[in-house]
Amino acid sequence: MSSENPTREKSPSESHAEVIVRMFPSDANPAGNVFGGEILKHIDMVAGIVAQRHSQSNAVTVSMDSVNFLKPVFVGNVLTLNARINYVHNSSMEIEVKAEAEDIVTGIRTITGTAFVTFVALDKHGKPMHAPKLALKTDEDRIKFEEGKIRMEKRLRNRQK
Ligand SMILES: CC(C)(COP(=O)(O)OP(=O)(O)OC[C@H]1O[C@@H](n2cnc3c(N)ncnc32)[C@H](O)[C@@H]1OP(=O)(O)O)[C@@H](O)C(=O)NCCC(=O)NCCS
Repeated sequence: MSSENPTREKSPSESHAEVIVRMFPSDANPAGNVFGGEILKHIDMVAGIVAQRHSQSNAVTVSMDSVNFLKPVFVGNVLTLNARINYVHNSSMEIEVKAEAEDIVTGIRTITGTAFVTFVALDKHGKPMHAPKLALKTDEDRIKFEEGKIRMEKRLRNRQK
């Protein structure tokens, strides 16, 4: 582990990110709905913004789990991806992402996907470094931290070496 030290504790709200994208025909699968891989790309991207905002370093994806596509996303929908950091260990950070699709004509919004993405903060030599600890300000922060810790322990038990 790198000896570079994080600056200070940071709350989840300081790194929260929201990304809004319009789904185009080029995002579709052969059946005409939005391709799951396209949504995964946006999930990874918004989670990466949160991880880098929190760690103020380079941060790379090491795992993505509990990915659920709950409803289809259609060409023309506006996809909003909300991401927050739940848990920090040493260099690893769990980011939770929720994707919501909006039919822009009817205004109906549907939660279409959820995922947990783990990032690792890297120093300038590409080695894992400590990320700032989480300052837990709200009950939601504290609950999500405890749940994230349990998921991270499970992830590490199942980790492929
Ligand atoms: C990130 C990377 C440098 C970590 O290397 P490593 O040898 O596994 O390092 P460590 O074993 O010291 O693990 C570093 C941290 O990652 C965590 N980690 C590693 N694999 C993990 C996994 N599958 N799930 C969750 N956490 C994981 C470890 O628990 C550790 O966390 P901690 O510092 O909070 O305790 C290395 O796995 C890597 O380069 N992966 C490729 C990342 C990448 O390129 N992603 C882009 C998509 S291809």
